[in-house]
Amino acid sequence: MSPTTANAADRKGVFIQTFGCQMNEYDSAKMLEQLRAENYAPVDSPARAHLILVNTCAIREKSEHKVYSLLGRLGGIKRSRPEVVIGVGGCVSQQRGAEILKRVESVDMVFGTDNLFELPAMLRAVAAGERVVRTDWHDRKRKVANFIPDFGSAFGAPDEVKAGLAITKGCNNFCTFCVVPYTRGREVSREPENILAEARAMLARGIREITLLGQNVNSYKAGETDFVGLLGHLNELEGLQRIRYTSPHPKDFDEKLAEAHAVLPKLCEHLHLPFQSGSDRILKAMRRNHKIATYLDKMTMIRQRVPSIAISTDIIVGFPGESEEDFEATLNVLRTVRFDHVYAFKFSPRSGTPAATLSDQVPERVRAERLARLFELNDSIVSERTSALIGSRQEVLSEGPHRRGCGAITGRTRGNKPVMVVDCNAERGDLVPVEIVSARKFSLVARDLRRGCR
Ligand code: SAH
Ligand code: SF4
Ligand code: F3S
Repeated sequence: MSPTTANAADRKGVFIQTFGCQMNEYDSAKMLEQLRAENYAPVDSPARAHLILVNTCAIREKSEHKVYSLLGRLGGIKRSRPEVVIGVGGCVSQQRGAEILKRVESVDMVFGTDNLFELPAMLRAVAAGERVVRTDWHDRKRKVANFIPDFGSAFGAPDEVKAGLAITKGCNNFCTFCVVPYTRGREVSREPENILAEARAMLARGIREITLLGQNVNSYKAGETDFVGLLGHLNELEGLQRIRYTSPHPKDFDEKLAEAHAVLPKLCEHLHLPFQSGSDRILKAMRRNHKIATYLDKMTMIRQRVPSIAISTDIIVGFPGESEEDFEATLNVLRTVRFDHVYAFKFSPRSGTPAATLSDQVPERVRAERLARLFELNDSIVSERTSALIGSRQEVLSEGPHRRGCGAITGRTRGNKPVMVVDCNAERGDLVPVEIVSARKFSLVARDLRRGCR
């Protein structure tokens, strides 16, 4: 009997808890696709699951703590129902491997970031009584490889209008603070035809907005096709409304890509470009491969071409050796660029990375105080930028009814701001022309322009 015709009662429940970035969300979706083919169905609580998967993130110490505390709680479920299988995948698994099995008795299997497509075989090994660890890398020498073997187009979640699509995996940059090159391996790009085939499968199941994913997404290169070439191909796909990408690196953000934002209708007026620190001294110690002046020039370049572009960024405060003056330089970048959204983090030493062992670590108290000062400044900038949108006309991609009900729908602008459109009967996936009527701290309220002036 095929999984689609199996009686719902025959299916086993799987619960997947995902931590971390959009790449992890994407990987979790791939796990679910494989499991559906194995006659599993998603359930909304670990208490009702036969299989519990935890897809982990190692980016900061806190991310790793969250994983172990969840595994501790899941231990209770395993004690009351020993037949439950618990698997741990993702970046912590890649780094820690068998250590997780030793540390957490209730875990049955640990698999790395290159092993997620071996789930059915691993489950069979667990059923045969093994405790499984698979963290071996696939062919590490290939720069181009189609590392997603199956698109599972028949199984996508039916109520989604936007999704991520991996175009590269891994990273060769080795920024001194970052675990990703160790947890995701060397950078590999997928062939354009392979990416376009997955994009078409996504469109067939109702996806209207695709975010291209990669740890260093704009260094994509497969044969003659570079990142901008790939954007051009995607822009031609019928049924696709919007394209975004994350995360690009400033060193690979060039005029050609800025121009693509101006000329490709589906590429959104939205750019997430991390700068990490406003101090050249710290950027060098981070091994970011660019100076802050170059970053600021790139901001000017993109705003000249696309004046309405919304820009977001990532920042680390309290990197080892960061002085008050270095931190002030970071605040100055915020004052100069005036971002639409900022993700800022206290530096977190990660084992295996060069920055973790530097002698001039900034005390936790100073890191916390700098982060609070940064948010205080940035919150006022962001609310000014958000309020400036009042009265403007925007396009919202409907993601369906707003959770508050009352005939409103929820969605995002092309600049990626969340919007509640009141008194709107758009279907999920519709593009709605709106006028912004009011602004909250991080979101907007709008009226549906198709309903005329009232
Ligand atoms: N590839 C992306 C970043 C991915 S990680 C890039 O190069 O921009 C997402 C963000 O987490 C980073 O931009 C950085 O701001 C933050 N981050 C990474 N390692 C960190 C660490 N050790 N401590 C604190 N923040 C960190
Ligand atoms: Fe980490 Fe740097 Fe690679 Fe981004 S570019 S994933 S911060 S090593
Ligand atoms: Fe975390 Fe791994 Fe993503 S460390 S941020 S899940 S690449």
